[in-house]
Amino acid sequence: MDLNNLPHFDVLPQHIGFIMDGNGRWAKERGLPRYKGHIEGAKTFRKIGEFAGDLGIKYLTFYAFSTENWKRPPDEVAAIMNLFREYLKELDDRKAENEEKGIQVNFIGSKKGLPKDILAMMKYSEKITEDKTKVYLNIAVNYGGREEIVHSVKLIAKLVKKGKLKPDDITEDMISRGLYTAGMPDPDLIIRPSGEKRLSNFLLWQAAYAEFWSSNVLWPDFTEEDLVEALRNFEKRNRRFGGV
Ligand code: IPE
Ligand code: IPE
Ligand code: MG
Repeated sequence: MDLNNLPHFDVLPQHIGFIMDGNGRWAKERGLPRYKGHIEGAKTFRKIGEFAGDLGIKYLTFYAFSTENWKRPPDEVAAIMNLFREYLKELDDRKAENEEKGIQVNFIGSKKGLPKDILAMMKYSEKITEDKTKVYLNIAVNYGGREEIVHSVKLIAKLVKKGKLKPDDITEDMISRGLYTAGMPDPDLIIRPSGEKRLSNFLLWQAAYAEFWSSNVLWPDFTEEDLVEALRNFEKRNRRFGGV
């Protein structure tokens, strides 16, 4: 798409969540091993992330690896971890470019079980981008919505135990503030390619009023035009939030 001639939208979501699904099927269709699908999916992630940022969407959350994805064969998990390593290295190599674009990178998810070198690189990427505020790029790695809620509830339980908070004073806002997305607006739109119509443990709490867009395109084939189609549809949605 011509970057000098970006489409105009009357309404844009502030925060989009992408469930990057369909890599395995993309590879299978071509008689390739599953990891090849993940390689292509990682390219799509870079392309769509950049395009969405250029369109002016401030918060982007990409679901890259779930707490349930550890159930996959070890060689597939290892290949995905290596793709994270490559991307994290690239974030460092492209520091100047990302700085110019004002991208803040955040990794959301549990730290438990992730390789130490990856955790260190994640921490470093977050550190070098922490003062950027134009685009917030969240990457959900070892992320599960239920795990995240438990994580938040534990923080609250500790305050209660210390006598700093009464159980009756616990609010929705406190739970939100204990999530990995603390301080960010809830997603307005969740996009899931590959034809599945489920959340698969993605942003369970935050998605309470998110609009859902599902498309049959497999994630490695997802294009800028597909995102525009989802956004055109979003423009027409009547969001009532329980009102009339
Ligand atoms: C999504 O693609 C990537 C991850 C979950 C890591 P899949 O690997 O789930 O692709 P399909 O659903 O098997 O096609
Ligand atoms: C969801 O996709 C997780 C990510 C995209 C990272 P899955 O392929 O793991 O979801 P299910 O198993 O089809 O629900
Ligand atoms: Mg899948």
